[in-house]
Amino acid sequence: MIPKKSEMFNHWGLSQETVFLNHGSFGATPVSVMEEQGRIRRLMERDPVHFIEKLSNEMWQDSVWELSRFLNADPEGMLFVANATTGVNTILRSLDLSEGDEIIVPDHAYQACRNAIDFVTNRSGARTVVVRIPFRIDDDSDIIDPIMSAINEKTVLAMIDTVSSPTGIRMPFEKLVEMIQERGVDVLVDAAHGPGIVPLDVDKLNASYITGNCHKWICTPKGSAFLHIREDKRSGVKPLVIGHGHSSELAPNEKFRLEFDWTGTRDPSPWLCIPHAIKHVGSMVHGGWTEIMERNRQMAIFGRDLICEALDTTPPTPDFMISSMSSVEFPSNEDIKSIPLDGDPIHNQLYDDYRIQVPVISWPNHNSKYIRISAQLYNSKEEYKYLSDSLISILGL
Ligand SMILES: Cc1ncc(COP(=O)(O)O)c(C=O)c1O
Repeated sequence: MIPKKSEMFNHWGLSQETVFLNHGSFGATPVSVMEEQGRIRRLMERDPVHFIEKLSNEMWQDSVWELSRFLNADPEGMLFVANATTGVNTILRSLDLSEGDEIIVPDHAYQACRNAIDFVTNRSGARTVVVRIPFRIDDDSDIIDPIMSAINEKTVLAMIDTVSSPTGIRMPFEKLVEMIQERGVDVLVDAAHGPGIVPLDVDKLNASYITGNCHKWICTPKGSAFLHIREDKRSGVKPLVIGHGHSSELAPNEKFRLEFDWTGTRDPSPWLCIPHAIKHVGSMVHGGWTEIMERNRQMAIFGRDLICEALDTTPPTPDFMISSMSSVEFPSNEDIKSIPLDGDPIHNQLYDDYRIQVPVISWPNHNSKYIRISAQLYNSKEEYKYLSDSLISILGL
């Protein structure tokens, strides 16, 4: 029987029949935010020209300001992109790499972003330096030390996650940005899991570049993300799509904005929903976003502990490295291959037989396989108990 839902479940349009424990992959948009998107789209179609040439510009500016306020960022450097993959590509493909240059990336990085690094290093004779980080971690130094040891005079950039995708580790990104940049190396922060899952102060962080999704943890419609470029780096970055702005003779800061803001006709509604989503989701609990992040973190720890018990293992990281996601490895002696095209068998069985949506991730690099849970306000403790009981049945534990 499908377990009881949280009292906040009805804010979302999720299926009653599914136990949805994978907010991390693509987020989930609350009903009120979908309604706001519908309202904006209807407004657009009343007079598309007036909307695109006038109204949406004001709303866009408002979104830039609200997100900048939420993240304590300089609005002049705050750009909108469709997703973190685009943000990462925008920076990497603007780099003027020379033969022998090195880009550092920990092996917990998201594969699409790692591919983008390989693409730009391969074509320029530069080198991708993949830093191996263990899965089981006792302390920050298990992550910081190998990354810092990989830096040398050829290093031009390091890409650092806020929260790693396959392993759900809240990275010590604040310390890493400071330490790496002190060595004269730029950092590109991949905050795909950033706004709404970890406290982010972009100004204080002072990374050269940071990109992050709004459509994951602040629950905006899919296709809304940001890219923030520090002032001294702005003249070196071009959007992936060259449009009208390229030939404009505006002042540099206005040209920069036009180049990124107008990359051709598109539906701006996902970004225009950002102010509403920040306010709406933030008002679901008394303590606002600080409380949401802490509640979700406590729920992820609760779920992780149940899974560890079911799999007869121990928590792989200290609790301070947990945000709203947590991964636990399956005990196994078999050789781990990439996920088959038709999906991992445990994932499929959890979904087909128990209606649980949760990712099971193969990581051949570390010869391991993980289950990664997410926690969002719509989840209940009963759902994690149901997952751990289902794992016990499936695996015959
Ligand atoms: C660390 C990390 N980077 C990048 C991405 C890509 O996000 P998107 O598909 O929105 O571009 C993800 C997606 O889960 C991720 O976890």
